[in-house]
Amino acid sequence: MPALGFGTLIPDPAVTISATRDALEAGFRHFDCAERYGNEREVGRALQAGLAAGGIARENIFVTTKLWNSNHRPERVEPAFEASLEKLGLKYLDLYLIHTPFAFQPGDDQDPRDRSGNVIYDHDVTLLDTWKAMESLVDHGKCRAIGLSDITLNELKPIYESARIKPAVVQVEAHPYLPETELLEFCKENGIVFLAFAPLGHGMGHGPLEDPVITAIVARVGKTAAQVLLAWAVQRGTAVLTTPKSAARAKENFNISALPPDALDEINRIQTRTRLNPVVTTGIPGFIPQGS
Ligand SMILES: NC(=O)c1ccc[n+]([C@@H]2O[C@H](COP(=O)([O-])OP(=O)(O)OC[C@H]3O[C@@H](n4cnc5c(N)ncnc54)[C@H](OP(=O)(O)O)[C@@H]3O)[C@@H](O)[C@H]2O)c1
Repeated sequence: MPALGFGTLIPDPAVTISATRDALEAGFRHFDCAERYGNEREVGRALQAGLAAGGIARENIFVTTKLWNSNHRPERVEPAFEASLEKLGLKYLDLYLIHTPFAFQPGDDQDPRDRSGNVIYDHDVTLLDTWKAMESLVDHGKCRAIGLSDITLNELKPIYESARIKPAVVQVEAHPYLPETELLEFCKENGIVFLAFAPLGHGMGHGPLEDPVITAIVARVGKTAAQVLLAWAVQRGTAVLTTPKSAARAKENFNISALPPDALDEINRIQTRTRLNPVVTTGIPGFIPQGS
């Protein structure tokens, strides 16, 4: 799996298509998608066109998508997988992730709510039940690897221990304000790829992009804040997702190079701690516009 990946959490369909094409052209070969993003068809269309235009073989890109919370019942897993595959226009997936460990009421409503507006969870299916259905997808040959997302170390350990096919990848929020060191150590010890999202702190103000330690390193190494944060992520041994939406930013975010050891140490010593995305505690995505 290429360490640097392009994330497709982009609400606008036209921007999804242009940004995916731009990412492919800039050199990205790892694409992170999800049923819940509601744009797998646009991503698929952009990838088909981009591969054809660039003479790039399907085998030379790595494509991930994710099973949504309302499809955790074992009998819903394969149909959800097939639907994503069809929308993406692909014959196989490189990686399929359980998007969150939270099962929602099964059905086509991705955001099932009761009259008070609270999410309706499904307590009649366990994460291990869902994982076993994911393992069957690997057995059937259309899915090369499976993993988990938005999961804590405490939730990951029992799945890891019981799994017949071990999780290949764990995708979680990680940046200098949320280094997730313990989870990263567990992943390294057990051969699991730790895949960080929100490496730029979702681009939010007062986040890692504007941290004074990062700003000082930017001035010293002649790279942008985004390039410094992405390089730090790769050098600490994680894979990382980023979502540039223009051709210029795609080139910028792809063009990273190693930081000197003193810069890595300074970033590792940042003390600020913030979780930006509450999805890990609720299963409710923090950055998907309502109604999409
Ligand atoms: N598993 C999950 O629950 C989960 C949750 C969230 C995300 N993800 C995945 O992770 C991917 C990464 O998303 P993210 O939000 O975490 O990405 P990110 O790259 O940390 O943040 C994207 C934001 O950073 C800004 N940005 C991008 N490049 C920049 C640059 N060079 N300089 C300054 N700002 C820049 C963008 O601004 P503009 O909008 O102005 O371009 C955007 O607001 C998603 O697309 C998705 O695939 C997964």
